[in-house]
Amino acid sequence: MTHVIDGNAVAESVRDDVRAAIDDLEAEGVTPGLATVLMGGDDGSATYVSMKQRACEEVGIDGTTVEIDPDEPAEALYEVIDDLNDDPAVHGILVQMPLPDHVPKREVLSRVDPLKDVDGFHPENVGRLVSGNPRFKPCTPHGIQKMLAAADVDPEGMDAVVLGRSEIVGKPMANLLMQKADGGNATVTVCHSRTRDLAEKTRNADLVVAAVGRPEMLTGDMLSEGTVVIDVGTNRVDADTEKGYELTGDVDFESAKQKASVISPSPGGVGPMTITMLLYNTVTAASLQSGVDVEL
Ligand code: GUN
Repeated sequence: MTHVIDGNAVAESVRDDVRAAIDDLEAEGVTPGLATVLMGGDDGSATYVSMKQRACEEVGIDGTTVEIDPDEPAEALYEVIDDLNDDPAVHGILVQMPLPDHVPKREVLSRVDPLKDVDGFHPENVGRLVSGNPRFKPCTPHGIQKMLAAADVDPEGMDAVVLGRSEIVGKPMANLLMQKADGGNATVTVCHSRTRDLAEKTRNADLVVAAVGRPEMLTGDMLSEGTVVIDVGTNRVDADTEKGYELTGDVDFESAKQKASVISPSPGGVGPMTITMLLYNTVTAASLQSGVDVEL
């Protein structure tokens, strides 16, 4: 029997821990605050930002969204970030990606106060993660670690294949899986668009994390029996629905499920975990900045 991970259920249990930590902060007069900055972006960006805002309200985080016209110069975004860095009520700052082409992403990521960088994308936080001393683990791979633990999957000793080398998912996922720490200790292969014979790599894997943004590219014939499969993809594909599209993962769920021992579907798997870990990191940030200890 294949275990299909219910991302919403795992997310809800982590949110219980987050709510308890928020109660501890509130008892000391600290309300965690998260500011999300939206400057244009793709079709999904506005939707994601409003989902993040709603999730904040639901657990008791003071969430605000700052919108900047995508035609404004990069300096307009820098000013907003500087103000949020200086605002003591804001513990976490998230600048929604992607940014307009004229805005230099690296400048932006470096501008966010590393203690407020709840995405974990500031070079200081990336460096800390890679060197084995993470402050904020990036939300999606962190959520996947939590999901694996909840499904009793320990990556220790596994051959893990990460499909995709993005800064947001692939690279930090590979790093977390190889760390000498709980939820790590795997032997990790990172595959990408230039990888030769991808199926040979995935067939030799015990664990595959698919994060490439190509609808249903990982199929059952590319997997061995008993593989653990995590689908990070949320691709919009044309469909005869009210919206004119539907969301589909990077994994062909039906054929992969025939081979997998554990599989997380998309939608309904990693997505809810990503937002939950943003709440988690915001509470961690509020704790670090206020000096009030919380258990998470
Ligand atoms: N765009 C897609 N995923 C993310 C994320 O995790 N953080 C930010 N800031 N932007 C994103």
